[in-house]
Amino acid sequence: MAMFEQFTDFLGGRNQRRRHGRNLPDDMDILDKLKEEHDAVKALLGKLVESDNAAERASLAKQIKAALAPHTKAEEKIVYDAILALKDKDAQVDGNEGYLEHRHADLALKKLLSIKPATEPEFAAAAKVLKELVEHHIDEEERNVWRDVRNAFDAAERIEMNRAFEAAKKRVRVAH
Ligand SMILES: [Fe+2]
Ligand SMILES: [Fe+2]
Repeated sequence: MAMFEQFTDFLGGRNQRRRHGRNLPDDMDILDKLKEEHDAVKALLGKLVESDNAAERASLAKQIKAALAPHTKAEEKIVYDAILALKDKDAQVDGNEGYLEHRHADLALKKLLSIKPATEPEFAAAAKVLKELVEHHIDEEERNVWRDVRNAFDAAERIEMNRAFEAAKKRVRVAH
């Protein structure tokens, strides 16, 4: 199964790098990286609901898609699949909830991008819904999923997860 391959990839990479004893780029706790990306997308969503300019609204919607798609896909593979693999029912609920909320956010984003021109009241409504969904999701994720990650993975493993996360993001193609 792909999820286990990626998960063991990151554990294997950790052992390899420990043997070499070097610091490589992307040496960062995955939770710090996720926080940076959450804050960036929240800032974009804030600008989106404040904007009343059609071109700016459309551009922000595209930037949000470009930020969310790699983040959510890589997060599913590296973070959610890792906690789903734990023998912990609560962590498994958190992982499943994360997948479902990503799906809802994706649908809301698709709806937003389909509304033209971006000056339509429907666009403003879809922007508000997307912002609420994503903010709610981020709040819960930072509380529950991150607790599961901290409980199950030590600092060195979380750095390895960040490397795997960066690699997984590069594999996500964002259709325009
Ligand atoms: Fe996230
Ligand atoms: Fe998420």
